[in-house]
Amino acid sequence: MAFRKVAERKDVRPGTGKAVEVGGRTIALWNVGGTFHAIDDECTHVGGPLSEGELDGTTVRCPWHGAEFDVTTGKVLCPPAGTSLACYKVQIVGEDVQIDVP
Ligand code: FES
Repeated sequence: MAFRKVAERKDVRPGTGKAVEVGGRTIALWNVGGTFHAIDDECTHVGGPLSEGELDGTTVRCPWHGAEFDVTTGKVLCPPAGTSLACYKVQIVGEDVQIDVP
C-alpha cells in the first residue's frame, strides 16, 4: 500500500466526482464539502461509471440504473446493485490529493 497523487484539490469541485486512473484501476474521487473520498468507479450491478452519477450529500446514484452508494464508505444503499464497493484512504498534501492504493 502506498499513497499516490491522483489529482489536485482544485480539480474536483465540492459536490462533484471525478474518475482517476491509479494502480491499474479506475477510482471515483469525490469532494463532499471539501473532504475527499475515494471508492471504485465501477458500479457492482453491471459496471456503470459512478463518477458520472449525481451526488446528493454523501450518496451517489449510478447513472445507468439508479443503484445508490455511500461515497464515504463504498456501502451499497439501494438496489439493483447488491454488493458494496472498495473504499480507499485519501490524504491531502499541500494541494495534492493522494489515494492509498494496493
Ligand atoms: S450499472 Fe449501476 S445500477 Fe446498473
